[in-house]
Amino acid sequence: MSTTRILLVCMGNICRSPMAEGLVRHKAHALGLDISTDSAGTIDHHAGEAPDPRAQRCMEQHGITIGDLRARRILPEDFRSFDLLLAMDQSNLDGMLRLAPAPALAHKARLMMTYAPDLPVEVPDPWYGGPEDFEQAFRLLDRATDNLMDTLRYGR
Ligand code: 4NP
Repeated sequence: MSTTRILLVCMGNICRSPMAEGLVRHKAHALGLDISTDSAGTIDHHAGEAPDPRAQRCMEQHGITIGDLRARRILPEDFRSFDLLLAMDQSNLDGMLRLAPAPALAHKARLMMTYAPDLPVEVPDPWYGGPEDFEQAFRLLDRATDNLMDTLRYGR
């Protein structure tokens, strides 16, 4: 079976998408799934930076290290390099779709929370919030990534 390449996308690539990448990477490793990950932002304001310390702390509290990740802006060629491009909110999805180099590649992009249809459709941006907002983002992402893993394992 070939590697499934997954790109997690938010606005700054320092809060939600590195948390999502950490969860996907952690779960894929634990399950022995052949998945490669990266994350990117729709703005390049934080390019080269490590995840926000609040995001790192939240993830550490759940036993997941993301300090090695570095922010970058999403590129049109990401639509060719990845199989799935998962956006944290609608504005991220709209922003990335504007970069799709061909209409036929747009189907690769969707909202992360489509994997948890009983939960809110967006992961709220915790950037202006406190630790509880990062924890809420973690809870949403934890459920969505569980279901994403099931989809990749069982094809649901
Ligand atoms: P993220 O959060 O999109 O979850 O990484 C943000 C981080 C930084 C900014 C916005 C959102 N910013 O405007 O700098």
